[in-house]
Parts: sequence; C-alpha cells; structure tokens
Amino acid sequence: MRLIIDTDPGIDDALALLYAVASPEARIEAITTVAGNVDIVKTTRNAHHILRHAALPHPPPIFQGCATPLHRQPVYAEHVHGEDGLAGQYDGLPYTTEHGAVEAILRIARQNPGEISLLALGPLTNVAAALQADPSGFANLKQVVIMGGAIEPPGNITPLAEFNFHADPHAARQVLRSPVPLTLVPLDLTRKAVLHKETLRAWTADRTDSRARFVTALCHRYFHFYSAMHGGEFCFLHDPLATAIALDPALARIETLRVEIETEGEMAAGMVVRDLRPHRETGCIVNVASDCSMEEFFHRFEERVVRPRGADSAESYPAMTQ
Ligand code: RIB
Ligand code: CA
Repeated sequence: MRLIIDTDPGIDDALALLYAVASPEARIEAITTVAGNVDIVKTTRNAHHILRHAALPHPPPIFQGCATPLHRQPVYAEHVHGEDGLAGQYDGLPYTTEHGAVEAILRIARQNPGEISLLALGPLTNVAAALQADPSGFANLKQVVIMGGAIEPPGNITPLAEFNFHADPHAARQVLRSPVPLTLVPLDLTRKAVLHKETLRAWTADRTDSRARFVTALCHRYFHFYSAMHGGEFCFLHDPLATAIALDPALARIETLRVEIETEGEMAAGMVVRDLRPHRETGCIVNVASDCSMEEFFHRFEERVVRPRGADSAESYPAMTQ
C-alpha cells in the first residue's frame, strides 16, 4: 500500500510510525506533520527523531504542515504526551525539514491518481486544507483512513468529543464530506486496543537495546497518564490500531454510518452526531471500523514495533536521553 501519513507525534503517533515503517505492506511516500498533541515545531521535530531512531536506509520525506486549526485556537495534549510530545525522549539533535505538507499531499495525489492512501493520525487540518486548495487534486486520493471521532460518548478530550476531531472540528466536518472513500477508526474501537504494562514488560524482559528502551520510555509515560485517569497501568494504542487497519482492512469489521460533525460548543465541538432518522439526506456516509482482531493486532504490534528485525542486536540509535 502506497501511503502518506499525516501525524501529530505524540506518543501513540510515534508507535504508529514505528509500526508503519516496519510493515512490509507499507510504501510510505511521505510523512506530513500537523499541530495537535503539541505544537507544529515539536510534532515535526518528533517525526524526524522517530525516523532517526528507526534508522531506515531510505527514510520517507517529512513535510511540515499547518500550525493552527482552520478556525479555532490550538488545543494541545502535553499533559498526556509530555512537554516535548515524546515522553521526554526528544534527543535535541539538529534537523532540517521540508515545509508545504498540504502542497505535498496534493502533488503526490495528482502524480499518482487512485494510488495513494492518506492515513490521518492527528487533527484533520492539513487534510481539509488540501481539500479546500484543490478539490479535484484531492479526489485523486484512493482513500482516507482516519483515527478520530467518538461515535458514542464518552469522548476523551471532552465528555462528547475525541481529541483529533475536537482540536479542529471544522476540518473534520469538511473532510468527512469529501467525495474520497473514508474509513474512520474511532475512539470506540481504539480504546479497546489496551496495552498493559505487564505485557510490555514481558515483551521487553532482559532486553537493553535502544528499541526496547525507546518504546518502554514512551509507554511508561502513557501508563502514568492512564493510571492517573483510569487507575490502571495500561494505555490505548489509538494510532497504531488505525495504522494496522489501514494497512490490512481485513483486521476490522466495517460498518457504514450516516454522521455529521458538530463544530460549536465548548464540550460538543468535534462530536460525531449520528442521524438515525429515516429517509434523511443530512450529514455524510462514512465507513467505520467497529471491531477488530485484537489478538492479531497485538501480535503484529510486538513484531513490528517492539521487536522489529535486528532490534535486539546492534544499537540502532545513540544512547537515549534519560
Ligand atoms: O484521541 C486520540 C488521538 O488524539 C490520537 O491520534 C492521539 O495521538 C491524539 O492525536
Ligand atoms: Ca495522533
């Protein structure tokens, strides 16, 4: 699968990128960054850090994208992901980045009509900006797979809304109305992708390599947040699950729903509203991943993120910042 990954790293975005780059099904044409979990400078430098850690022979280009939502003020989640957005692991190494994420999405889509899938793991600002800038160019995308939305409450950033949709509800509404085939991987499903601290400990027992240390540091920050919020040492693998389903839709059960996105309200902005009234034309029809083979997902997650080929051997990354 040829794909562009639009992302706001973020701990679970980092795990999702490590999953994608280790996936034989994936041919990553570009990574585009968006403001979300942290600001655009931090999400972009984190994307560079994650690719450095992955030590790929031919890493995909990274294009920096939108710094602010279409209409609202930015909403960040440093309380979840850490001030640096990467559980304190950002290495501070110098980097240079391309800009023009929106133009890159449109260029790659136009040059490869019907070939490119867009995997959106953050607020949909870049995606909506591309749709606005060139609707016919955007229509060359094969599909858009989105981690976002809560079909049924509760949300996570408010009682009604999921973070990616709440952070830019206008973008979410516009993208869900686009003509390109869409699949939502919503919070309803991703909160079932529960990684327990004990499981990670079993996976990384007796391992001191940089991959084991990096993933452990990322997840331990996540465990800390979730234990404070939910009283247990676990975390939800939102973006890795969306990535796994994008790369292999057979993992999921897909339903079709008619929905609309609320764009107003302190609590409701970004809320997914299902229109259950018969014979109505409001809102938009979207595919929604409603279930998944979680055992197979976690098998692939361990294989591709925690223990990719060569992870146990030589140091694939300089000593981690503590
Ligand atoms: O609500 C979870 C989503 O919001 C994930 O993509 C997480 O990284 C944040 O972007
Ligand atoms: Ca994300």
